[in-house]
Amino acid sequence: MSEKRKFQAIKGTRDLLPPDTELWNRVEQTARQVFTTYGFGEIRPPIFEPTELFARSIGLDTDVVSKEMYTFADRDETSVSLRPEATASVCRAYIEHGMHALPQPVRLFYTGPMFRRERPQKGRYRQFYQIGAEIIEALQQGQGGSKDIPKDAAIDAELLEMLMAFFARLELHSVQLEINSIGDRNCRPKYVELLRAELLKVKDQLGQDSQRRIDTNPLRVLDSKLESEQAIIATLPRISDHLCADCAAHYAELKRQLDLRGVTYKENWRLVRGLDYYMRTTFEITAQGLGSQNAVCGGGRYDGLVELLGGQPAKGIGFAIGEDRLILSLQEAGKADVPKGRDVYIAWMGATAQATAIRIAKVLRENGFRVELPPVEQKFGKTLGQADKLGSRYALILGEDEIASGQWTLKTLADGSQTKFTEPQLLDFLRG
Ligand code: HAM
Repeated sequence: MSEKRKFQAIKGTRDLLPPDTELWNRVEQTARQVFTTYGFGEIRPPIFEPTELFARSIGLDTDVVSKEMYTFADRDETSVSLRPEATASVCRAYIEHGMHALPQPVRLFYTGPMFRRERPQKGRYRQFYQIGAEIIEALQQGQGGSKDIPKDAAIDAELLEMLMAFFARLELHSVQLEINSIGDRNCRPKYVELLRAELLKVKDQLGQDSQRRIDTNPLRVLDSKLESEQAIIATLPRISDHLCADCAAHYAELKRQLDLRGVTYKENWRLVRGLDYYMRTTFEITAQGLGSQNAVCGGGRYDGLVELLGGQPAKGIGFAIGEDRLILSLQEAGKADVPKGRDVYIAWMGATAQATAIRIAKVLRENGFRVELPPVEQKFGKTLGQADKLGSRYALILGEDEIASGQWTLKTLADGSQTKFTEPQLLDFLRG
């Protein structure tokens, strides 16, 4: 006897099902609407790319690249990885399609699954979904340097304004934007050395992870959530006191631009982000009801990344929203309403009534109503019970009497009331 195997979704992955998927679609639709009004076009990059693309952009010492990627050898032995994020892919596509020749900056958004082999928990999955956007601008001759600061900061601020407009459109009001500047290749290395020196002095008091990071990436120690390290971290030097003149000017201008746009934010000097490509502006958005995985969006500026990947010098800034977490947060906030059930259930009896039922079902569907048409005749009692179970708003009753008189009965299931309509009256009524 062959053993019956019960298949289950792989740990950290899950099926998204109706009616939840209606909410997912509403969220993605809202993103499309809002982002389009800010001049963004959609890009759909592939789900796997050469491993080297991610290693080079995100950084070899990051958790994402060193521990979390799904990497495999393709048949020709090239190492490929499922994308853990999409910024690297967007930059690759920008270079590959010569987008530096388009009017700059180029604004692109994407939605889709990402893959990271993290420990699954609430709000953390191995296949998760992001809604992201990137603004990339090739540097023209004579561009760059201090004189670009007002423009760059305005681009950052407009991106953040758009993000907050998106959350507002979803009526998710509990979100908090946190911003920081992590300097650039001028000032950050000096700050990192200072931080490393200070961390070495207190090494014994730090946990294992942070001790390791003193070597590999001292900035990440600032990210630590370990209770015992918090008092020590509070005494560490802050990057805002060590920014070079250009980075300080950029950060000040960003804050001024955010104020100008009425975007509220909180400064968080410990916000360093876990990917290597960032410089200057970094930000995160937290939402309520998510427990420890409360970052619903992260992003920042990544001037230089396109060049690092072999393109012309370019600037960039972008973000990615964790859609799984956003959905959880909307559900917790009671903002997850989606239409449930059917609008109209057609309870028909008799061969003549079936022909009318088929025709009217088509008309109603063409008008955008969700219609349930039972495939075979059923007793009225049973069919109305079914209409109820499906959460239908109305039952349209079509029996021989209704067909003969041309007066159809519409029953409102919530209160059991019934009204007679002719076909045109019915359509007028339903269309409101
Ligand atoms: P990230 O901070 O790694 O940034 O991810 C962005 C968001 O994706 C997080 O804030 C979180 O909401 C969600 N996320 C990340 N990992 C998981 C997971 N395992 N399960 C559920 N949600 C998750 C980036 O990915 C950058 N590419 C953002 C960016 C775009 N920076 C510039 N442009």
